Amino acid sequence: MKKVLVLVLSLVLVLGLAANASALTVAFSQIGQESDWRTANTDNVKAAIEEAGWELVYSDGQQKQENQIAALRSFITQGVDYILFTGVVNTGWEEVLTEVNDADIPLLLLDRIPDCADVIDYKVAFGGDFVEEGYRMVKWAGEYLKSIGRDEEVNVVIMEGTTGASAQVDRTTGNLKALEEYPNMKLVGQQSGNFTRAEGQAVMESWLKSIDKIDVLFAQNDDMALGAIDAIKAAGLVPGQDIIIVGCDSVKAAFEAIVAGDMNATIECTPLYGPFVIDAINKLEAGEEFDKTVIHPEEGVYDCVGGIECGGSVAVTSVKAADVIDQRQY
Ligand code: AHR
Repeated sequence: MKKVLVLVLSLVLVLGLAANASALTVAFSQIGQESDWRTANTDNVKAAIEEAGWELVYSDGQQKQENQIAALRSFITQGVDYILFTGVVNTGWEEVLTEVNDADIPLLLLDRIPDCADVIDYKVAFGGDFVEEGYRMVKWAGEYLKSIGRDEEVNVVIMEGTTGASAQVDRTTGNLKALEEYPNMKLVGQQSGNFTRAEGQAVMESWLKSIDKIDVLFAQNDDMALGAIDAIKAAGLVPGQDIIIVGCDSVKAAFEAIVAGDMNATIECTPLYGPFVIDAINKLEAGEEFDKTVIHPEEGVYDCVGGIECGGSVAVTSVKAADVIDQRQY
C-alpha cells in the first residue's frame, strides 16, 4: 500500500514538473501592422508560440514607442517567462530594457536591434542585415542599367522607411554606400514613406509634381513601392519602364507586381522568425547560451527576386519572381 502511495505521489510530482516546463508564458511587444511583411512576421511568431503549447501575451504598439514601453512594463508586472521585442525606432529603450534585465526576464531581440543592445543584456538576437539589403537594392539597379546599356546620368529617389527605425537607418546607409559605386545615378529625392502603402503613394505623388524626371525608385519596403506604383500609374507613366522600381522584403504582392511588369526587383528580408524563436527558447530552457552576434534568418533564402531580365545580371544570387511566386506564402 505504502509503495503504491509513493508511486502515485512520484507520478503526480513528475506530471506537475512536466506541466510547468511546458507552461511557459512568452510575451511579444510588436511594432504594429504597417506592412505585409509585418503581418507575416506577427502571424508566424504567434503561430509558432501557440503550436509550441506556450501561452502568448501579445501587444501591438501601433507604431508608438510609448505604447511599447508601457507593454514592456506590463510584461514585467505579469511576470512572464520570456520577452520578445522589436522596437519601432532605434533609440530610447535603455531604461525600460534595463528594467526587463533587473526583473531577470530573458529578452530576445527580433527584427530591429535597438542601439542600446551593447549595454543591456539579451539572450539572442534575430534581425535583418539591413545595410546589406539597402546595398543590394542599389547594386541590382546599377547592374541592371549597365546590362541594358544605360550608362547616361539617371535621376534616382530613395523612399525611406519609418524615420529612426534601424531598418530605415541601415538601409539608407547601404543605399548610399552602393550609390557611390555608380556615379551615373544622381540622388534627386530622399523622403520617408513610413513603410506604408498609403504614405508611399503620397510621397510619390508629391515627387512626381516637384521633380522633373525620375528614372529609378528605391523603396525601402515593398508596401511603399506598391503605393508608389499606384501614383505612377495615376500620373500616366508606366511603372517598371518609365521608372525602374526596386523594393525590399520580397512579399508576394511584390512578386505579383514584378510578374505584371510594374516593378523590377525586390530584395529578400524574411519575416519568418517563429521557428528560430522556438528553437532558441528551447535551447535557453536547456541551459544553452548564444553569442551576441545578430543572426540573420534570411540567409540561405533569396538575395534578390526580379523580372525576366534579373537572372545573372547582378553580383548577388537572383531568382525570377515567376519561378518562385507559388512558394511565397505572404
Ligand atoms: O523591420 C523590417 C521592416 O519593417 C520591413 O522591411 C518593413 O516592411 C517593415 O515594416
